[in-house]
Amino acid sequence: MSHLRVEAEGLEKAAASERVQYYAPLVSSGPVSAGRRLLDVGCGNGYSIPEWRRLGFGVVGVDLDLYRLSRWVEEHPAGTPLVLADAGHLPFRRGAFHCVVSSGMIEHVGVAESPNPYKIRALPGRDESRFRVVRELLSVAAPDGQVLVDCPNGMFPVDFWHGDRVGAFRLHSIPDVLLPSFQDFLAWGRNGGFSVSLVPVGRRLRFRQVGRHWWGRLFTAPMRAFLSVLDWLVSCGVTVLPGRLSPFLVVRLGKAAMDPRDAAPPAVA
Ligand SMILES: C[S@@+](CC[C@H](N)C(=O)[O-])C[C@H]1O[C@@H](n2cnc3c(N)ncnc32)[C@H](O)[C@@H]1O
Repeated sequence: MSHLRVEAEGLEKAAASERVQYYAPLVSSGPVSAGRRLLDVGCGNGYSIPEWRRLGFGVVGVDLDLYRLSRWVEEHPAGTPLVLADAGHLPFRRGAFHCVVSSGMIEHVGVAESPNPYKIRALPGRDESRFRVVRELLSVAAPDGQVLVDCPNGMFPVDFWHGDRVGAFRLHSIPDVLLPSFQDFLAWGRNGGFSVSLVPVGRRLRFRQVGRHWWGRLFTAPMRAFLSVLDWLVSCGVTVLPGRLSPFLVVRLGKAAMDPRDAAPPAVA
């Protein structure tokens, strides 16, 4: 296994428990009832799965990559297998899950990525593929279910999550080839007739990768303060500034019709 892969998997494992702690209160209010079903789509090596189970969720992990499945089987010889499937064509009954979460996956849909140097190319139909995925996540969620999707924000000009090295960063144009923006989610919601809202991100970000650099440690405190202001705006129902300025997005999708205030801006391609 390459050094980068070992390092990236180490980080993924370390972040899994924090990610679950962040999402757990969002997907359940009060104690989790037995049989509450959660789907983690694009779950990577499935490190979040035991964490969700520990909290009482009946969890299924899905990933498209055979390598990820092999890592899961290697590390959990007696466990339930992870399901190998494409997020755009999920092999589950409609409405089967109370909660669906997808972390750091949507940006990898509809693009081709290559290493050394890290390059991204949009594949034909990228936006349609992403729209299909978010609709599919919603369709396997129960009518009153929760769907939460996160990714770095395409409107923020620096991407701290993708590159040839762990801890590298990438400056990109706006719009970005790789990262969707909140406007993209709003456009998908308008086209699909589902609601789209932002969730405060402050507690989701740990600055683990940039914290490896002196400049990253320097910028952590001001960034945390900045994120608390954005989170406060989100909690007041203001999404325009956080949607544009936050480095990372956590988006809640709902089957209910969209809020007309969100439906007002013109569609973004
Ligand atoms: C950056 S990893 C994120 C892993 C994990 N969710 C986390 O947050 O640590 C993205 C994962 O999404 C998976 N993925 C990408 N496109 C997918 C698709 N269309 N369907 C299912 N999984 C996909 C990749 O194989 C990869 O494991």
